[in-house]
Amino acid sequence: MDRIAISGGAQLEGVIPISGAKNSAIKLMAASLLTDEPLRLTNMPRLADTRFLARLLERLGVEVVEQDGPEGPETVLHAPEIVSAIAPYDLVRQMRASFNVLGPLVARTGQAKVSLPGGCTIGARPVDLHLEALRALGATIDLHEGYVYAQAPRGLTGAEIAFPFVSVGATEHAMLAAVLAKGETVLSNAACEPELADLADCLNAMGAKVSGAGTPIVRIQGVDRLHGTDHAVMPDRIETGTFALAAAMTGGEVRLTGTRSELIDTLLDKMIEAGVEVRRHEDGLTVKRNGSRLRAVEVTTDPYPGFATDLQAQFMALMTLAEGESVIRETIFENRFMHAPELMRLGADISVSGGEARVRGVPALDGAPVMATDLRASVSLVIAGLAARGETLVSRVYHLDRGFERLEEKLGGCGAKVRRIPGNGEVEA
Ligand code: UD1
Repeated sequence: MDRIAISGGAQLEGVIPISGAKNSAIKLMAASLLTDEPLRLTNMPRLADTRFLARLLERLGVEVVEQDGPEGPETVLHAPEIVSAIAPYDLVRQMRASFNVLGPLVARTGQAKVSLPGGCTIGARPVDLHLEALRALGATIDLHEGYVYAQAPRGLTGAEIAFPFVSVGATEHAMLAAVLAKGETVLSNAACEPELADLADCLNAMGAKVSGAGTPIVRIQGVDRLHGTDHAVMPDRIETGTFALAAAMTGGEVRLTGTRSELIDTLLDKMIEAGVEVRRHEDGLTVKRNGSRLRAVEVTTDPYPGFATDLQAQFMALMTLAEGESVIRETIFENRFMHAPELMRLGADISVSGGEARVRGVPALDGAPVMATDLRASVSLVIAGLAARGETLVSRVYHLDRGFERLEEKLGGCGAKVRRIPGNGEVEA
């Protein structure tokens, strides 16, 4: 398997273009199941996760064409007919969000058989809220041998769905199913992540009637059919935040383009508090740090607009070099500090107790071999490696490839010394 070698110490200077959001793109791709007309998604990121989903969608009857359009990479998805409403385990387990094909399949064909996604390194991540939402919309749900069998032969019906806690995936799933239900659906305690508004914008352009997406109350008037449309995927706020943190970590000055600074307001407030300079522009932001040492600040992850759990590992990397002690609390996932022991291999001083990590800043990190454990954790090791003395070798980089497009090229363009060492097919222990 591939590894990434980083020779630390170079300041980052330059411009990094931000790609379309992975977490939005994969839900927008699932929306193609809802219509027999083509859906053209522009600003598409090219990632392992979008490829996994494309493979599954093709199995269900979606023609998927990736092409370079006038505005850059785009994907056209066309499902004239659903040829199979079965999503097998071998495809769903590769990417949890594939589970979100269940709702659109039931909405369009009246039935579906979709594998449960199974466990995951950052916690149990059940799908009970997804299933409750589909039941509320009138689907019969049975579980057998790791599969969900959903039936709604006479179609779905609008319902009031009050989520007991905020779930991004369950809110999106309910929205994807309710757009074709009869009557009105009201989602309360809905997730407010910007990807929800992006999905609603696309669905509305397809003829759906969704209002309030991006707020805790979402209203959906079901329609009989949806049609094709063109939609530009929103910028990736996690990629934006990750590169902003990389620049803060190494020092230097980096301009991030093709994005929106307000998507990461909570992170930027914390970075400014820590002593990083931030300038906002119409098409992004510039992050700058001169030689001065950073100050430790505390963060607690929360649903949007709170501090994103997907930026917690990268922020922890930054705090390893800050002056003082930072307390980082994780409230979304129960096992999301696996990067801490890996950062400690680089010399970081971190103690973890339950959902809380205490990071006591050290003057310098030293390169070492480390192992990526999940998507966001892996990029925190890259960020730390950029500032460490000597060489850091990150293994299991397939985690990175799931969610970061051309990472080495984007960092390399700003002066970082990052190279990929292709694997020779051997399996890492
Ligand atoms: C999405 C994002 C992920 C991000 C997370 C939180 C995608 C593809 N992934 O994941 O990058 O870290 O939001 O911002 O968009 N839960 C249940 N039952 C359910 C559903 C969720 O107990 O049916 C729990 C989860 O285990 C977790 C919490 O709810 O503890 C929040 O999860 P959720 O918001 O659903 O995250 P995802 O949609 O899986």
